[in-house]
Amino acid sequence: MRFYEPSEKQPCYYCKRITGTGEKGYPTREGTYTFETYVFRCAWHARFTCSICGEERHFSWFYWCPKSKQLICGNCNEPAMKPVAFWDRTYAYDFYCDDCGEHHYDLLYAEFQGKHPWQLGNRDIIFNVESERPWKPEWKPSEQREGKEIEITEALKLPNRLMQLRDELGPHRILKYGIPEDEIDLSDQGVAWSENSETWINAHGEDMSGDPNRKYIIDPALWNLLGDVDKLAVLDAGCGNGYLTRVLASKGAKAIGIDFSGPFIEYCKKIESEKKLGCKFLEGSLTEMSMFENQSFDVVVSNVVMVDVLDYKNAFKEIARVLKDDGRFIWSNVHPVFGRSCTAGDFKFPRDSRRNEERYIKLIDRYFETGGELTSWFGTPTWQFIRTLADYSKALKDAGLVISEIREPQPSIEDIQNHPDFLAFDADRWPHFIIFECLKRK
Ligand SMILES: C[S@@+](CC[C@H](N)C(=O)[O-])C[C@H]1O[C@@H](n2cnc3c(N)ncnc32)[C@H](O)[C@@H]1O
Ligand SMILES: [Zn+2]
Ligand SMILES: [Zn+2]
Ligand SMILES: [Zn+2]
Repeated sequence: MRFYEPSEKQPCYYCKRITGTGEKGYPTREGTYTFETYVFRCAWHARFTCSICGEERHFSWFYWCPKSKQLICGNCNEPAMKPVAFWDRTYAYDFYCDDCGEHHYDLLYAEFQGKHPWQLGNRDIIFNVESERPWKPEWKPSEQREGKEIEITEALKLPNRLMQLRDELGPHRILKYGIPEDEIDLSDQGVAWSENSETWINAHGEDMSGDPNRKYIIDPALWNLLGDVDKLAVLDAGCGNGYLTRVLASKGAKAIGIDFSGPFIEYCKKIESEKKLGCKFLEGSLTEMSMFENQSFDVVVSNVVMVDVLDYKNAFKEIARVLKDDGRFIWSNVHPVFGRSCTAGDFKFPRDSRRNEERYIKLIDRYFETGGELTSWFGTPTWQFIRTLADYSKALKDAGLVISEIREPQPSIEDIQNHPDFLAFDADRWPHFIIFECLKRK
């Protein structure tokens, strides 16, 4: 027997979802059956046995033909998707029946319509598990119903349960996501970063040592790729508080930092006037860098910036333009698969524990839902941009940049051991950042 007797009974998961939609008079039946941990199901919503193949399957994978009096599974007769909004669902399975030449629907939609075999009085249908008479309690819809016809694209926009979980358990709030980039005003982003810069500087420090992600994960891999920068002309694109520009200069590079946040650039200039490392800082957008001539730099480095850059395609083109032939563009970013905040979530239970063994799982969903995401970052609403790996690789190619290497950096075992409480995002288990090395084609 593939079900087991639960030690405690709970209300049926499916019945609860149906009553949760406000369905009048619907009984929440007892969840007598469990086929997996935590989910309890009543007889109506358990499993049935196929009249043809004899296999036992999920109830909604069946239709009932009143003519042949057979209960047939979707493996024996493959259904299509019927986009229809009913209860909390957006589609039903639509079976074309060879026996009677009509369409029948799966048992969940059939129940909604009042056409479930038990609602039609066919009480002799054998339920797959030993049970008390399963057709009680009775429930009939008030009238024959069809549900609301919708488009297939709408049917596929299922509720985002990952977002729901994130809202309930997550560390920071996402205010909007999936907004097309061309609907977002760049000035919003400039304003947001200008407001963020002070908090950012205070939180991370002048050398960014307050950020374990940079210190233990990104920077070691970035420097491994950068190698010797002595005497090279290097642009730090989106320099933020300028920490990387300063390290570049201290290693002998002719380093220039550019950022479109005025307060960041002011801060960078202030530190430069004190430390005199030979860095230059300019306020401007990566999407329009006419202050630099073609082929000005040996290396462009951009550290966790593209996620914040609206119009990354033009930023890549500008970066390619200011690079010398065979010059290198090395850029780190939030990982397009694992680092997303809206469609990838790290969960620990209990939420407040940081212990390794209580790390639960990473959930990734809706990878193709790209666009702007408005998060509350340090309390200021900030736009970030979600793109797929293919989006980035295409934009690089269009800009004349060839990816020569990809790194998915991890902290070292020593760093994990020395900072068990410090490394964000379970960085030893999945890469939250990615680093690309690209070459400018001649
Ligand atoms: C996450 S911060 C990273 C800063 C720095 N590279 C670092 O590693 O600390 C992203 C920076 O990108 C800048 N930025 C975003 N869009 C930009 C654009 N279009 N042009 C120039 N800078 C931009 C922001 O002002 C911000 O300083
Ligand atoms: Zn039920
Ligand atoms: Zn079958
Ligand atoms: Zn039929």
